[in-house]
Amino acid sequence: MTDRFSIARDRFSIATPDDFHAHLRRGSAMGAYARRHALSFGRALAMPNTVPPIASGPAVAAYREAILEAAGGALAPLATFKLLPGMSEGTVRACAAAGAIAGKYYPAGSTTNSSDGLRDPAEAEAALGAMEAAGLVLCVHAEDPAAPALEREEAFIPVLERMIAAHPRLRIVIEHVSSAALLGFALAAPPRVAATVTAHHLLFTLDDLIGEAMSPHLYCKPVPKSARDRDALRDAVFRGERKLFFGSDSAPHPRSAKEGARAAAGIYSSPTAVAALAGLFESGGALAALEGFLSIRGASFYGLPPASGRLELARGEWVVPEELDGVVPMLAGKSLSWSCSRT
Ligand code: DOR
Ligand code: ZN
Repeated sequence: MTDRFSIARDRFSIATPDDFHAHLRRGSAMGAYARRHALSFGRALAMPNTVPPIASGPAVAAYREAILEAAGGALAPLATFKLLPGMSEGTVRACAAAGAIAGKYYPAGSTTNSSDGLRDPAEAEAALGAMEAAGLVLCVHAEDPAAPALEREEAFIPVLERMIAAHPRLRIVIEHVSSAALLGFALAAPPRVAATVTAHHLLFTLDDLIGEAMSPHLYCKPVPKSARDRDALRDAVFRGERKLFFGSDSAPHPRSAKEGARAAAGIYSSPTAVAALAGLFESGGALAALEGFLSIRGASFYGLPPASGRLELARGEWVVPEELDGVVPMLAGKSLSWSCSRT
């Protein structure tokens, strides 16, 4: 192999990564989360499961503005809205006019702030039709909350099949795919169906979460699964699968919400995801696949211009702080062998 990453290197650069699944929250902490995001990413698809949710044209416009302002323009927000039962075509058109590029389907009760989500696609039929007509992307949290925790993705596949069949032009992103079963489904689906993969589902398994001690900071939805599932994801991204691109699902919760009798689901991965992925891809002999995964294929699926600017990755040990922005970040206290900076 003579590709440009085959020789051990201490420094290289890639086009600035995009994050196609980010929780930046609302309120006083949002600015810190957005600025942290901007250290690694140029654009972030901002998830709408805030309190209150982003579910109208004015809310989309205000949230975009707030993120832009909070990050001093260093992070370009890509806007979404939350599909709610009975949402009208007019609301979808207003969200699109305000700049939304995607709508998010949360099955009711599937994850953080989703009790107002959908029990069935039929509850948002008009909105889904309007999204298809407007060329918006449907992002799906593909878990059936009624199924056992480790089987929730597989149990949701029939719902995906129905939506794919009912809306033949709708582009769909299956978010944070975590199981070999759902991965196989996504890869076999029509080209208008793609999937995001997180860093944490590439790095961890259920044993990391509960095998030795209960580790609430690795708790997220969907829960990390078996080594077989993780390895199926690794193989697919290492070989540069066209349908797969990065979405961090970075989901900060204050330490107090994670370290209690009922830990909130979500991993604050944005501070460490890119550095950790560089190490992972390198150990898999796949550094050449990193840029396509982080910086190219997501924008291409969404029909966005290529990322501008570069991210430089440099070899060098550093220890992840125990707390950032009031949150315990992914891999806190661990040593990483790459660091990154935007240029
Ligand atoms: O772990 C998760 N946390 N998964 C999600 O789908 C939502 C997220 C959050 O908003 O905290
Ligand atoms: Zn999420």
